[in-house]
Amino acid sequence: MSDLAATLATAWDTLAAGVHDRTAPARHIVLATTGAEGPEARLLVLRATDRAAGTLTLWTDAATAKASELARDPRAALLVWDPEQRLQIRLRARVALRPGTPAEWKALPAAARALYGGTPAPGTAIPAPDAHRATASLARFAILTRHRPRDRNPPPWRPP
Ligand SMILES: Cc1cc2nc3c(=O)[nH]c(=O)nc-3n(C[C@H](O)[C@H](O)[C@H](O)COP(=O)(O)O)c2cc1C
Repeated sequence: MSDLAATLATAWDTLAAGVHDRTAPARHIVLATTGAEGPEARLLVLRATDRAAGTLTLWTDAATAKASELARDPRAALLVWDPEQRLQIRLRARVALRPGTPAEWKALPAAARALYGGTPAPGTAIPAPDAHRATASLARFAILTRHRPRDRNPPPWRPP
């Protein structure tokens, strides 16, 4: 590709396709953060893109390791690979967490709500696969969005 503007547009189109098409390569995006032991990477579902603002939206459980990692250090890297186009999209971002709103929560199907909440918290070692109780909790529903420097004052929302 020689046209940089067209390349950028293709990258945004590829990302946007993931939001609406479960089979699109950008449906899942790798999010890398800095953990206590070094880099950490995991898959998340891409929930929204805003080309004009240059932002992506992802959702997580506020009790996950990634949430506390981002609260400590908002710098993140994101990665998508589209094999058909042979296109790798690499992004760097500063990520803030905000609580999901009751309206966003209501829009989720019940099965999806159950992904946010539960005991013990994600990442806790359990003695057996069924030693976890799923309880849907709006207080644990966190939206990953762009970190802006002014978020520092007042301090950003820290997950419970
Ligand atoms: C296909 C797939 C989709 C996933 N989507 C999400 C997601 O949207 N949000 C999320 O927090 N975790 C998602 N996960 C789970 C994460 O990859 C990760 O295992 C979990 O969030 C704990 O990560 P952490 O301990 O590094 O915070 C997904 C996993 C897979 C395999």
